[in-house]
Amino acid sequence: MLIREMTAEDLDAVAGMESENFTTPWKKDDFDDLLDCDDRGCMVAEEEGEIVGCVVYHDILGDVDITNVQVKEAFRGRSIGRKLMEAALEKARSVGGKEFTLEVRASNKAAISLYESLGFVEEGKRKNFYSDPVEDAIIMWLR
Ligand SMILES: CC(C)(COP(=O)(O)OP(=O)(O)OC[C@H]1O[C@@H](n2cnc3c(N)ncnc32)[C@H](O)[C@@H]1OP(=O)(O)O)[C@@H](O)C(=O)NCCC(=O)NCCS
Repeated sequence: MLIREMTAEDLDAVAGMESENFTTPWKKDDFDDLLDCDDRGCMVAEEEGEIVGCVVYHDILGDVDITNVQVKEAFRGRSIGRKLMEAALEKARSVGGKEFTLEVRASNKAAISLYESLGFVEEGKRKNFYSDPVEDAIIMWLR
């Protein structure tokens, strides 16, 4: 399994995975916007030529927002999500990232457990932040 920067050739695969994993998915153009960006980036996990996961980060003057992480359903539970998160944290740190934050659906136990295992802690909630279905967001930080 290879973790590398997303390229233009990956856009269809990443956007397809996104629409399988989320009820209000980002569009292909949203991922396209991340290419050649100084403060934002996307890394993908590739296995035997197939894109099986991705992570997106946005560096805002040293505060890094992890805005997307996902793994294809058939590939979950094999540490790919953890490796993607670790790669994004390392990459963001190497360009000056100091503190990390993210939002997660309150019911998303798998993701919350992954984030906690990396040292993220809950620092707040956003009421009814998500739609389809409506749900609170938990805000987590790694400081
Ligand atoms: C969250 C997600 C990215 C995890 O990816 P993954 O590759 O399956 O996770 P990993 O195999 O790397 O697991 C890492 C840790 O996450 C936690 N975890 C993963 N799946 C879990 C599950 N089903 N239940 C509870 N904890 C789980 C565990 O702490 C695990 O550590 P362990 O292996 O030492 O037990 C994946 O479930 C996913 O893509 N979900 C759909 C999209 C999504 O919800 N993204 C997050 C949006 S905020």
